Amino acid sequence: MVTVKDKVFAPFISQEVLSQRIDELAETMNREYRGRNPLFVVVLNGAFMFASDLLKKVEVDCCVTFIRLASYEQTQSTGKVKQILGLGEPVQDREVVIIEDIVDTGLTMSQLISQLKEQGAASVEVATLLHKPEALKTPISLRYVGFEIENRFVVGYGLDYDGLGRNLDAVYVLAE
Ligand code: IMP
Repeated sequence: MVTVKDKVFAPFISQEVLSQRIDELAETMNREYRGRNPLFVVVLNGAFMFASDLLKKVEVDCCVTFIRLASYEQTQSTGKVKQILGLGEPVQDREVVIIEDIVDTGLTMSQLISQLKEQGAASVEVATLLHKPEALKTPISLRYVGFEIENRFVVGYGLDYDGLGRNLDAVYVLAE
């Protein structure tokens, strides 16, 4: 068990299991992106550890860039809209693969996909370490999913609880 801030978390996905699954994802990507020179767009902060381990196993020629997303309240009833911060690399005609830590409601990801397509990306696919299918609020196509998990709060391996816990070397789940 680990304590992050004021909550206790239990081991959920071990380093070994993460590493084995990441190898499989990279293998599939190596097959599917051979000769396509993809642009990997890593979503900070949460995806840094997953991206680092995944990309070490990606053997195709590729470019890597990083973005952060800022949310702001729209005046309409659509709720929060995410804005891309710091996408320096032009995505026009690029085969983009977004690397994300977790897809929960999917709202973040669906907005990011739309924005990258509007900017002229030739294709946009998603690689997410974790996915909570029960929490999904919008249909979204996720090409590479590390693990489908139940709708519980997790930390570690890049994911945070109130800014803490990102440095844990495996994924932990909030204890009941
Ligand atoms: P979505 O728009 O609801 O899919 O939001 C996804 C974002 O919410 C992720 O990039 C995380 O930053 C955060 N998030 C969702 N679930 C968790 C969790 O269980 N632990 C930590 N962060 C989470």
